[in-house]
This record gives sequence, C-alpha cells and structure tokens, in this order.
Amino acid sequence: MATAIFTLMFLVTMVLLQLMAVAQTNGSVPVGAFITATDDAPSWLSSSGEFAFGFQPLEYKDHFLLSIWYAEIPAKTIVWYANGDNPAPRESKVELTGDLGLVLTDPQGNLIWSSGSLLGTVSSGVMNDTGNFVLQNSNSFRLWESFSNPTDTLLPTQIMEVGGVVSSRRTETNFSLGRFQLRLLDDGNLVLNSMNLPTKFAYDDYYTSGTSDASNSSNSGYRLIFNESGYMYILRRNGLREDLTKTALPTTDFYHRATLNFDGVFTQYFYPKASRGNRSWSSVWSKPDDICVNMQADLGSGACGYNSICNLKADKRPECNCPQGFSLLDQNDKYGSCIPDFELSCRDDGLNSTEDQYDFLELINVDWPTSDYERYKPINEDECRKSCLNDCLCSVAIFRDGCWKKKLPLSNGRYDIGMNGKAFLKFPKGYVPLDRPPPQLPGEKKKPDIKFITGSVVLGTSVFVNFVLVGAFCLTSSFIYRKKTEKVQEGGSGLETNLRYFTYKELAEATNDFKEEVGRGGFGVVYKGTMQAGSTIVVAVKKLDKVVQDGEKEFKTEVQVIGQTHHKNLVRLLGFCDEGQNRLLVYEFLSNGTLANFLFGCSKPNWKQRIQIAFGIARGLLYLHEECGTQIIHCDIKPQNILLDNYYNARISDFGLAKLLVMDQSKTQTAIRGTKGYVAPEWFRNRPITVKVDVYSFGVMLIEIICCRRNVDLEIGEAENPVLTDWAYDCYMNGSLDVLIGDDMEAKNDISTLERLLKVGIWCIQEDPSVRPTMRKVTQMLEGVVEVPAAPNPFPYSTISKYSQ
Ligand SMILES: *[C@@H]1O[C@H](CO)[C@@H](O)[C@H](O)[C@H]1NC(C)=O
Ligand SMILES: *[C@@H]1O[C@H](CO)[C@@H](O)[C@H](O)[C@H]1NC(C)=O
Ligand SMILES: *[C@@H]1O[C@H](CO)[C@@H](O)[C@H](O)[C@H]1NC(C)=O
Ligand SMILES: *[C@@H]1O[C@H](CO)[C@@H](O)[C@H](O)[C@H]1NC(C)=O
Ligand SMILES: *[C@@H]1O[C@H](CO)[C@@H](O)[C@H](O)[C@H]1NC(C)=O
Ligand SMILES: *[C@@H]1O[C@H](CO)[C@@H](O)[C@H](O)[C@H]1NC(C)=O
Repeated sequence: MATAIFTLMFLVTMVLLQLMAVAQTNGSVPVGAFITATDDAPSWLSSSGEFAFGFQPLEYKDHFLLSIWYAEIPAKTIVWYANGDNPAPRESKVELTGDLGLVLTDPQGNLIWSSGSLLGTVSSGVMNDTGNFVLQNSNSFRLWESFSNPTDTLLPTQIMEVGGVVSSRRTETNFSLGRFQLRLLDDGNLVLNSMNLPTKFAYDDYYTSGTSDASNSSNSGYRLIFNESGYMYILRRNGLREDLTKTALPTTDFYHRATLNFDGVFTQYFYPKASRGNRSWSSVWSKPDDICVNMQADLGSGACGYNSICNLKADKRPECNCPQGFSLLDQNDKYGSCIPDFELSCRDDGLNSTEDQYDFLELINVDWPTSDYERYKPINEDECRKSCLNDCLCSVAIFRDGCWKKKLPLSNGRYDIGMNGKAFLKFPKGYVPLDRPPPQLPGEKKKPDIKFITGSVVLGTSVFVNFVLVGAFCLTSSFIYRKKTEKVQEGGSGLETNLRYFTYKELAEATNDFKEEVGRGGFGVVYKGTMQAGSTIVVAVKKLDKVVQDGEKEFKTEVQVIGQTHHKNLVRLLGFCDEGQNRLLVYEFLSNGTLANFLFGCSKPNWKQRIQIAFGIARGLLYLHEECGTQIIHCDIKPQNILLDNYYNARISDFGLAKLLVMDQSKTQTAIRGTKGYVAPEWFRNRPITVKVDVYSFGVMLIEIICCRRNVDLEIGEAENPVLTDWAYDCYMNGSLDVLIGDDMEAKNDISTLERLLKVGIWCIQEDPSVRPTMRKVTQMLEGVVEVPAAPNPFPYSTISKYSQ
C-alpha cells in the first residue's frame, strides 16, 4: 500500500516536472503546475525567454510578489504584479487550476489572491512573448489575461479600453496601491489623477489628453493603444489617432514599457536589448510636462505630501522636500507629508505680542497656491509680513500680486520660477537657523532642505481656484469655491498703472536742477535725485532726448507698458513727466552701479555672485519676453544696461524704450538698435527682429560674465584674441576652458558649471536666430534643469566674425 502511494506520488511528480519543463520551452503552462515562493524558485518563461512569470523577492523581508518581469534585464523590471497589497510569505504557492485559474495561497493554505471566477474551464496558461500571461480553455478561447488587468505598466501590443485603469504603486519598492491613476474615461479623455486612498475617490485630473468631443461622440477617443512598433496613441472612434509617442525606437532592438511611476508621472521607456555598455531604461516621453505645477487640485496634497515643496528634476520626475523647520511625517517616505517641528498656537501666546516671538523664512518663488484664507491688496511686502506675524492663524504669507494668508496644512507646494513672488514661512524664533542658506547654485551638493531648481513653468498660479474650508470644526462640511479673479488693468484712456505723474518743476527740484549726472546712454542723460514720499527716497531721473516730439501717444503707451512690469530683475519705473518737449522717466535708484563697472573693474568679482547675476538677467529677460502683459524686446542688452541693487541682484534697465526710438530718425525698421559687440547679425541682414536679438546679446554678455572681459575691447586691444566670443568658442572646441578664466580659482574649481554656462552662451550667439534657444530654455539650461547639448559653431555661414561689419 505504502509502496503504491509512493509510486503514485513519484509518477505525479515526474509528470509535473515534465510539464514544467515543457512550460519552460514554449511558454505554455499546464493545469496543475505550481511554483513555491523561495529564493531559488523557478519561473514560467515565455518561449523567447524575454518574460518570466513567478515570484520576485520583496524588500519586505521573507515576502514575495507574484509578478511578470523582463527576464533578460539584469534588474528584472517588473511589468505586472498580482498581490501588491498582500505580500506572499515564504513558501506560499501559486498554482494553475482548472476552475479558478491562477491561485495564490500562503503556506497554511489561505487564499491570498486568485485570477477570479472565470467563464469556463482553464486548459492551459501561456506566458506569451508579448509579456501577456493568458489563461485559455481547450478551444484556445481566452478566459483571463494579465493585459486586461494591468497594474502600473503597459507593454507593446497592450490595449486599454474605455473604463480601463492603470494605478501607480506606493513607492519604488512597495507595490501596494498608490494614489495615482491613469484612466480612459467614458467621454474619451485619457486622464491622470490622484485619488484619496481609503475610498479611491478620484480628485481633479492633472493631465488630460483632450480627446473627448461632447458635440459628436464619434470623434472621441475609445482606446489607448500601445502598438507592436512601440507607439502609444489614443484611437478615436472615427479612426483618427492622437499620438503620444512621436518617434519610437525599433522593437527588434529595444524593449519598451509605459509605466505610471509611483510619483504620478506617466512615462514611456526604452531599453537596449544588446548587452553593450551600461544599459538602463530611458524616457521617450512623459506626462504631465511639469507635475509640480500642473497638479493643482483643490483637494489632495498635490504632487508631494502636505506642507512639502515639489521641484521638477531634469527627468520630469518630481522631487519633494520639507521646508526648513519641518520634518517628514514618515521618515521612509520622502514624497509624503511634512509636519512643523514647532507649534503656532492661538492660545496664551496668541495674546502675547507675536512680533518678537516669530520670524519668517523667506522662500523665493515657492508657492502653495491653495490653502488661502485671506487676501490683501494693495499692500506692500512689509505690511504683508506684519499682517501674518500678528495673526496667530497665519502660517504662511505669500507675497505675489497682493498678500495671500495661508493656514496649515499647505498643499500643492511647488518651486515655480514663473511665480514671481515669495513665501514667508512663519516659525517661532530659534526653530530655524537664522543664518539663511545661500541660494542653491546648480552643481552644488544638495542640502537636505529645499533645492531651488526651476522647472518648466506654466504661468498660471494667479488664476487658480481658491479653496475655502468653511467651519473650522467641521472638516467635512460644505465647501465654497471662489475664483480668484485678477483685476486686469485695461488699456485705454489715461494711465491706469501705479505710476506717478510728475511735473517738470518737481523733477528739476528733485534733481537740484539736473546737477548730479549718474549715467549717459542712448536715450539721454540720467540724473540722481531725492524725493519725499513718507521718507526720503533716492531716484534716477532719465531725460529722454531722442524721442520723436509728436509721438505723444506712443510715449504714453510705452510708459504704460513699462509701468505694468513687475519683476525683481527689472529696474522699477516709479513715474514720468510728459510736459511739452520734456519727456522724463523716474526710476528707483540702484546703489551698486552697472554690471559693466562690476565686471570690468579692477578686481575680479566673485564667481558665485557672477553666476547669480547671470541667472537674474536671464529671468528678467524671460519675464520681458514671455511673462509680462505685452511682450517687450529690449534690443540693447549689454552690461551698461544692467544695474545692481544693494544685494547685487541684477536689474535690467532701459527696457521698453526701443520702440520709442524706432520711431525717430529714419522711421524704418532697419535702423539698428543696440551696441556694437552685442548686436545680433539679423540687424544687418534685413531679417525680422524678434526676441532672439536679446538672446544673442545675452549670450555675448554671459560669456563676458564668465570671463570678466569685454567682448571687443577697443581700449586694451587684445592682440591675440580680439573678439572674446570667437576665442571662447575656440577654447570650448579645444577643451581648454581654463585659459578663459585666467587665475579665477573659484571658477576653476567649478569647471562643470563653467562649461554649462559657456555652452549656453555659445547656443545664444548662434548666427541663425532660429537655432538660438528661447530665454525660457536658457534659464532652464543655466539652472541645470535640462541638459545643455554640445554647442554648434555659432558662425557656420561666415568665414569672418560679425564684428567686421
Ligand atoms: C507599503 O505601504 C503601505 C501603505 O503605506 C504600508 O501599509 C505597507 O506596510 C507597506 N508595505 C511594505 C511591504 O512595506
Ligand atoms: C501571443 O501573442 C501573439 C501576438 O500578440 C498572438 O498572436 C498570440 O495569439 C498570443 N498567444 C496566445 C496563446 O494568446
Ligand atoms: C460626427 O463626425 C463625423 C466625422 O468626424 C461626421 O462624419 C459626422 O457627420 C458627425 N456627426 C454629426 C452629428 O455632426
Ligand atoms: C504603430 O503606430 C504608429 C503611429 O501611429 C504607426 O506609424 C505604425 O505603423 C504602427 N505600427 C503598426 C505595426 O501598426
Ligand atoms: C556603469 O554603471 C555603473 C553603475 O551604474 C557606474 O559605476 C559605471 O561608471 C558605469 N560605466 C559607464 C561606462 O558608464
Ligand atoms: C509672553 O511671552 C513671554 C516670553 O515668550 C512669556 O514669558 C510670557 O509669560 C508671555 N505672556 C503671556 C501673557 O502669555
């Protein structure tokens, strides 16, 4: 009897082993086959050997994940998993059964997961070469397939129908359900949204494909297709395609996958099949473009946790950091919420004068665009701080087009260079070291706190929906939405800016009859003056002498345009005078002179300071080109037109005046504006003048800032290298960057930043304006957010440099 049982068991085992051997060769798996979760467990391979089905060990000790992975990639990239929320303990077993399909049980025999009740009896399973695990009946009819039950990844040949969902995992190594979803909605839109994890309630989307058509449903999307050539697109019912992949590498040479990453970014990746050199998954495209800024739902924490600040990395993935004085709620979850290390209380202390108890951490271009409860306008920065300081409910004041008071928890925190404002974070004195960290420079080692790196930016934080929680004690009570409507100042009659109108007599008095001349430029002479406005303020009065005399309307228009600009890297216009022949502009006075004096003076200024100045100018120009109400082309960017304030912040001056001068003299567009050495070649070529002329001048100036040398130094007359930009390009080509900076040790020790800046400079001075980057791209490249490609020869069309003209 015992022998018979033993023989039977032996036979069964032999049969099973044989079946499993079969499974390893053609991808087919018979009913009854099983795998036990151990460290050296076998797996069911597809016939090509590219995909495997089986157990992968989890970081969570002695637990395993039933999954499908790329078997030929050393890192074994997981593309599907069954039991993310219920890790399987060691010795758990997965078995292919006839009635329940795949069944995963723990060592005690308790069910952990199964493929669910099926409409038929399974006769076999197939690990297909596409990465799809299929259960079929005896007629090869598909009863279940992993492709129809996707987790966080889609593979070529996989299709998602309307109603389909792809969900992120919790973290890179934790396969529990995460809070992000990719869904193809009934209306035909493909969307990304976050959700509330306990109930899976979906919050507003942060990406939408725009493939719905309410008026004609035959135009709306109904399938997300990842085709066998590695292209992903949305197929509309009318047969048209909305491509997500613009170009794909051939599937014969590359593996592909599209994964909703745990941080909410949906990315298509490729990986070279040939095993040469270092291989890794690289991105083809990802959505959304900037999750830090695009994600702004009224509910939910945003891309990062509450009170955290999101920062877009070069790979379009977010990085989350707690502000200083805050710590992670869960030390192991960098993307989670932050909690203050202190308490802002309205009891007892609230009665005390708070001014000497609290201080602010100032964060430039950091915003939490939701969580407001008050807005003050008009108000100045100091009043804004004070109002938050004296309000025990206020945790943060954002100064940006008025003063927004916010309470905890703060949500949707982001670093956003387009914000053009700052946050004052309140904390009790002593909680945050008062010596504030210097602004982070690219290339510097990261501090554990916030890293200020820009992302590509949507200038839109002003029109977000303001969310107000009514009833402080009733968290789930009704909500009121209030659109923050911006008061747009209409052009039209008169000047509706904050500009003051001065009489000529007032200005003559202020400048002591135009006594102290502080500058002289293409537009006239600048005088220093003082005025009483509460306190004594020092002003710079510019007497325009070349403005066309009957151009009164133009003058008013231009002054109005200038008056509406507000940016920390621009010189502020305070007022003007327009009296008969006299046209004067009144600016704030900046104490540290021009960049020209700073750069070309006796001693070489500090490298870090120079970098900050270059960044500042780039941001100011970006603002003029893309972010202010009326686009302004400066036309005369040069170090003489950059002023430095008390803190050596760069401030662009003389912007907005070019138009006034184009009117004078010849009245033709061909009259060259600008200064020899900085003028873009298109001025000489009768080609249209665009913002790219400023990019060109900026490039020349950037190289000057790097080298602390004038581009064309007529006085010293450098015999060997008369034109700096030519020389700089030669040095770049020869890889001899160090000769450009002489004995500047600081720059030498930061050669990677030096190289990046120089490459950006060379990109900017390309002869062909269309090759030059936009100022937005320039700021991103400068700050290290995007890679700077190798720079081409700036003068491909000319054998001589343009200065001979
Ligand atoms: C994964 O994350 C979830 C939710 O935070 C947690 O409950 C679970 O213990 C984690 N699992 C592992 C294996 O660490
Ligand atoms: C495996 O995938 C190929 C390509 O999609 C398909 O033609 C084939 O029918 C699949 N095999 C099974 C058993 O599903
Ligand atoms: C809907 O669009 C299709 C093609 O895009 C067109 O043929 C059809 O006439 C439209 N139907 C209506 C009701 O407009
Ligand atoms: C996949 O889609 C792309 C883009 O729509 C198309 O050019 C290509 O021919 C498709 N490949 C196959 C095999 O259908
Ligand atoms: C390959 O990758 C390893 C680690 O990822 C790295 O240390 C090494 O420098 C890389 N080699 C090359 C040639 O990129
Ligand atoms: C006010 O603050 C001071 C110092 O923080 C404390 O000593 C004092 O007791 C406080 N007064 C009240 C009324 O809370």
